[in-house]
Amino acid sequence: MNTRRQLELLDLHPEIENMTLEVCEGLKKQQKSLSPKYFYDERGSELFEAITRLDEYYPTRTELALFDAHLPEIAELIGAGSCVIEYGSGSSLKIRKLLDALSPLAYVPVDISRDYLLTNATVLAQDFPQLTVLPVCADFSQFIALPEQLGGMSPIGFFPGSSIGNFEPEHAKQFLGRVANTLGSGGHLLIGVDCKKDPAVLERAYNDAAGITAAFNLNALSHLNRVLGAEFQLDKFEHEALYNRDAGCIQMFLRSTAQQQVSIGGSVFAFDEGERLHTENSYKYSPDEFIRLAKDSGFGCEHHWQGADEYFGLYLLKAL
Ligand code: AVI
Repeated sequence: MNTRRQLELLDLHPEIENMTLEVCEGLKKQQKSLSPKYFYDERGSELFEAITRLDEYYPTRTELALFDAHLPEIAELIGAGSCVIEYGSGSSLKIRKLLDALSPLAYVPVDISRDYLLTNATVLAQDFPQLTVLPVCADFSQFIALPEQLGGMSPIGFFPGSSIGNFEPEHAKQFLGRVANTLGSGGHLLIGVDCKKDPAVLERAYNDAAGITAAFNLNALSHLNRVLGAEFQLDKFEHEALYNRDAGCIQMFLRSTAQQQVSIGGSVFAFDEGERLHTENSYKYSPDEFIRLAKDSGFGCEHHWQGADEYFGLYLLKAL
């Protein structure tokens, strides 16, 4: 007998017209840029999962080790919570560990990649039969109306993996402010944040030997070709990732290897040979820097944990 649970999806995915407009805006700038959210179609989400298993990419295993060491204490600090909202859902071990530790009534994964979201949410609903799973397909950098079924449940935000680092600091502040509003005063947010460290370690993490990060970066172009009918030639761009000490972030680019024109939504964009398309910043925060950012966004820091190598921080924030 097939016992797969049918999940109700709240679909707030942006319209194609809006995506085309946004992409064209970025390509018109002096420094051409794309939002990192375009990495995440189904293939991009799978590539990101592959990145998290790479030797060079230390954040995932470092954060998981913090979970293993501190989840019982975290569960005690949070108390009996009833609904976990995860910003950016993964198939990852992290949410399973958190659900085991907290036993909430409901889980709301929010992700822009609809197919990936539904696949993972369905598997999770099978594995946690008592849990109400309410997937929301949305760009979580925008305001999200939560499903009505959550009325009365106390929400716990979950934002692991240092995804906060992919926002510009000012946008990170605005995002955290919106999360604080959604959670309401006293609501907890458990968030993982990558720390500043030796640039050689950072650059290795974003330039893996197997080329998975390069494939992930280039996949943003395949995604736009498929969804928006753009005409990027993938063999005419190459991956680049460098640590910018002044800004405190890894910067990823796609470098054009030829002079070329790319058409998208009726507009044509010229690339010089060597010109770079900026695809992602990944900011790294010292604990002091991050706690300051959280305070400026309407959160107090209840507790924070780091491993002995001080590579990664896990923060339990409370909305003021
Ligand atoms: C999702 N995010 C936190 C990753 C990061 O490290 O900034 C995305 C990534 N980009 C390249 N590798 C991983």
